[in-house]
Amino acid sequence: MSRLIVISNRVSAPTGSTSGAQGGLAVAMAAALRANGGLWFGWSGEQTDQFTGHINFQRAHGVTTATVDLEEQDVQEYYDGYANRTLWPLFHYRIDLAEYEREFAGGYQRTNQRFADTVRPLIEPDDLVWIQDYHMFPLGAELRQRGCENRMGFFLHIPWPPRRLLGTLPGARALVESMFAYDLIGFHTEEWLESFCDYARQDMGAVIEDGVARLGDRSVELIACPIGIDAAAFADMSKSVNARLAYRRMRDSADGRDMIVGVDRLDYSKGLEERFLGYERFLIEHPEERKEVFLLQIAPPSRVSVESYQRIRQSLEGLSGRINGEYADVDWVPIRYVNQGYPRDQLAGIYRAAKIGLVTPLRDGMNLVAKEYVAAQDPADPGVLVLSRFAGAAEQMGDALLVNPYSAEEMADAICQALRMPRDERVRRWERLMAGVQERDVTWWADRFLAALRRAEVDA
Ligand code: G6P
Repeated sequence: MSRLIVISNRVSAPTGSTSGAQGGLAVAMAAALRANGGLWFGWSGEQTDQFTGHINFQRAHGVTTATVDLEEQDVQEYYDGYANRTLWPLFHYRIDLAEYEREFAGGYQRTNQRFADTVRPLIEPDDLVWIQDYHMFPLGAELRQRGCENRMGFFLHIPWPPRRLLGTLPGARALVESMFAYDLIGFHTEEWLESFCDYARQDMGAVIEDGVARLGDRSVELIACPIGIDAAAFADMSKSVNARLAYRRMRDSADGRDMIVGVDRLDYSKGLEERFLGYERFLIEHPEERKEVFLLQIAPPSRVSVESYQRIRQSLEGLSGRINGEYADVDWVPIRYVNQGYPRDQLAGIYRAAKIGLVTPLRDGMNLVAKEYVAAQDPADPGVLVLSRFAGAAEQMGDALLVNPYSAEEMADAICQALRMPRDERVRRWERLMAGVQERDVTWWADRFLAALRRAEVDA
């Protein structure tokens, strides 16, 4: 069987810990690498004065990781710049925040070339190559230019924008053209896949038939393949000692009130301002519920050197302060706003203690918090998931209360409906959600993608 080469910007070496320090993707990749052999290549997260291409190999718990340091300028132009100031906002439909700078595009290409130069010698003729996410769109084409004829798959973990938005990106066409170097491209939802097809067809003249896009003499297979979580492990984790402690801590401090929980990286795509305003609307419309509920929003800072992230942080500080100032009483605050991350086992306990999981991104490739919230619930007395229609997860999670996160009214109504939902309806909805989360877990996702990649026709 062929070995597997996984390539992504961030690399997580397995820790072997059972405290759930690692996310589903890391766990799934580690399992696939253990089963197939091979390695996981990417950026070390470190910066140096000059790029050397020195590879740091590590082997832990049956998985080999190979990482390189990047030059400071690479990090600024490739990671902070093109990935997070250009592509991330654009692909989350925020062209108002997208910055189009030649230096970013150049740095992105250069860094992908450096990745290609570095990883190329590690790839053997029969290896399957699986590249992840928007940091590395052109890597496949760079590897082909270096004589790599392997089967190569690409998976996008964020949305694909509508074609009219993508058309605003200078060099969009070349970027998409470079993706025809892959044999298979995966998206989380049909919607993102269709947007890709729309652009390829209308703006590039590609022909798309039976899930295969053809452009000139290249063809690439396209699939929608929603990622899941390690559902069984997460459900177990919600009963672990640390989860129970966190659960107890939350229940004690809730003092009989219902807790609503949100857990998100501090990112403008997560719709946190709109969430706070929707919750405020609920407090205004239901004064009798004030002091009966509170919102715990956990939002660890992310990509802090990017200005739009600094701005959203400031704005949320202002908004949470204003709402708390306006409605708090001496023995109650409406929002507990926390800017730090927690280990996953503690989060599982916090989710279990929450009557409502509020997951309301303005746009999200998938959103795994929605699935984790479901997996952590007590089957006999589960909470209610309130989920944005604009999260990829909504395509699979129709038994959640689906809301338009731009509408404070809809959010307020959904919070109210969730708080009043009878237990039998909560159980019914949860059982269906949980069945989906269990069936399409992260192993299902990785196996399905890799099976399709093995089958994909290679026309190099
Ligand atoms: C999203 C992206 C991932 C990324 C993660 C954290 O989920 O799809 O590729 O790793 O955000 O962002 P960061 O910039 O910290 O890697």
